[in-house]
Amino acid sequence: MTRTDPIHQIRYAVRHPNRIVPHFRRLARDTWLRLRTTDHVSYYRAVMKSDTARNPEAAVGSKSHDRWLALGKMQFDYLVGHGLRPDHRMLEIGCGNLRAGRLFIDYLDAGGYYGLDISPDILIAAQHTLAQYGLRDKLPHLTPVRDLKFEFLPDASFDVVHAHSVFSHSPLHVIEECFAHVGRVMRPGGWFDFTFDRTEGREHQVLREDFYYRTETLLDLAAKHGLAARFMEDWEKLPHKQSKIRITLP
Ligand SMILES: C[S@@+](CC[C@H](N)C(=O)[O-])C[C@H]1O[C@@H](n2cnc3c(N)ncnc32)[C@H](O)[C@@H]1O
Repeated sequence: MTRTDPIHQIRYAVRHPNRIVPHFRRLARDTWLRLRTTDHVSYYRAVMKSDTARNPEAAVGSKSHDRWLALGKMQFDYLVGHGLRPDHRMLEIGCGNLRAGRLFIDYLDAGGYYGLDISPDILIAAQHTLAQYGLRDKLPHLTPVRDLKFEFLPDASFDVVHAHSVFSHSPLHVIEECFAHVGRVMRPGGWFDFTFDRTEGREHQVLREDFYYRTETLLDLAAKHGLAARFMEDWEKLPHKQSKIRITLP
């Protein structure tokens, strides 16, 4: 049984009655936004606009400021523990309001951080984070994008590419677009870490906002585009619901 099965949904509602009203509110809002947009990126940009207007930290998935700080630190500690150096150049896909980005920016040499996002609204919030945490002098790049082809970025230019909690909101064709192009902008010896919502059962999505994939689907997709990919077991020990895959150039 999957989350999209009506029987599962009824059982879930009985167990969590307080979530029924918020869910239907979200369903109504998302249906309205889907009707007004023609493709996934436009739809999700509209979702982010609506969520960011309420609370940018909640828009990137944090229920409280303490969680926002903790989730950023978890991402930062993991990458530094895996060899991120201050002289590295880093591309962050779906940087949001710099929950982790503010720590990367602080750590990297000036100009070493490139953040991309489909949401202009969350990038404005990211500028606020830069000012708030005294990071102006680090001159990070923050750029809105419509796709993940990286057309405006030079070949072999990033040591580390990072996408946390982005593919958990992406249909497979968006992930495939990224895999088809990311190798070009990675430096030899570099790596690309991304998280995803893992299912061991049937792959499914909820409200076109949350997408659940089997690990093999993403490993096979990476291989199709000539990328080496492996499941990161040590990430599983951390208190986080998503799993992580690392891509390298073969
Ligand atoms: C859950 S938030 C996580 C933000 C940040 N990575 C973090 O951990 O705080 C997901 C972010 O990815 C962005 N996003 C979603 N799909 C994207 C895509 N296809 N390309 C670039 N950004 C995307 C959203 O606008 C949002 O800012």
